[in-house]
Amino acid sequence: MSINGNGFSERKTILVTGATGNVGRHVVSQLLDMGAPVRALVRNPGSADLPGGVEAVRGDFAAPDTLAESLEGVESVFLVWPGLPVSLAPTVLDALKNSTGRVVYLSSMSIQKDLTQQADPITDFHATIERLIEGSGLDWTFLRISGLATNTLGWAQQIRSGDIVRWPYAAAARSLIHEKDVAAVAVRALTSDTHNGARYILTGPQVLTQTEQVQAIGEAIGRPLRYEEISPEVIRQQMLTQLPPAMVDGMLNAWAGFVREPEPISSIVEEITSAPAHTYKEWAIDHASDFS
Ligand SMILES: NC(=O)c1ccc[n+]([C@@H]2O[C@H](COP(=O)([O-])OP(=O)(O)OC[C@H]3O[C@@H](n4cnc5c(N)ncnc54)[C@H](OP(=O)(O)O)[C@@H]3O)[C@@H](O)[C@H]2O)c1
Repeated sequence: MSINGNGFSERKTILVTGATGNVGRHVVSQLLDMGAPVRALVRNPGSADLPGGVEAVRGDFAAPDTLAESLEGVESVFLVWPGLPVSLAPTVLDALKNSTGRVVYLSSMSIQKDLTQQADPITDFHATIERLIEGSGLDWTFLRISGLATNTLGWAQQIRSGDIVRWPYAAAARSLIHEKDVAAVAVRALTSDTHNGARYILTGPQVLTQTEQVQAIGEAIGRPLRYEEISPEVIRQQMLTQLPPAMVDGMLNAWAGFVREPEPISSIVEEITSAPAHTYKEWAIDHASDFS
């Protein structure tokens, strides 16, 4: 075994799944900044557009027999489970178990501890994957995040073409998290065994209503924006063209819930990274070009 200049042994290759996604991209770049050997699992290496220094290997969770090459010599895996049936997960986790020691799973803070069936299908799939990982014999860390701030990129088209965001539940109040902060915790859990067995609740540092989020985007792009609350039913019909009804209703119920009870805040990002979590305003500045 050889050691590179940053103290990582070559056996310590870290596999990042979801490497082309919102969080995974930052996990890749932050690991590269640390000098860690990084491999990215991608379905299409040709279009992945990853930074130099990362090894992109083709693989697809929908065809678990494609994963062997990506898992060779891997010590830990950042796991993002995309919108695939969880029935595929046991085979994928078996492949991980046979090749690696530790998995850091991007999960959800909506999971309720004692429920066998969670409140909505999205939370249910996160809880199911956690249970499968716990039963797999792998070491694990669960990153139970609030909403990703990137969810609000869903307003980008309206903002690019006007000054009004039409969306329901103006008063829904969330502690949205910057994808960079999720990645910062992930890289620590991927590169040290001190986070094994932890279920970390990760949120942004503030709670903002959706009206306040839209105002923050307006400040970031230098153009006042207005939130116009519309009926949830209008959005429900739009979402049903892309998602199954149970998933749509789960998301709408969650937003309605954040009007009654704002999402909580956790300080774990700062405790683990020794840097304050980024605010939504900072996120909006980072993403101003997406809205302009
Ligand atoms: N959004 C939220 O508020 C929220 C809250 C809690 C938890 N989460 C978790 O976060 C995840 C999304 O993370 P994100 O926003 O960083 O990702 P993302 O931007 O939605 O990107 C999805 C990633 O999944 C990969 N992928 C898709 N299908 C795949 C397949 N069949 N096999 C292997 N990889 C595949 C894609 O890679 P390629 O297309 O390049 O292959 C891409 O890198 C969700 O699935 C959920 O579990 C999200």
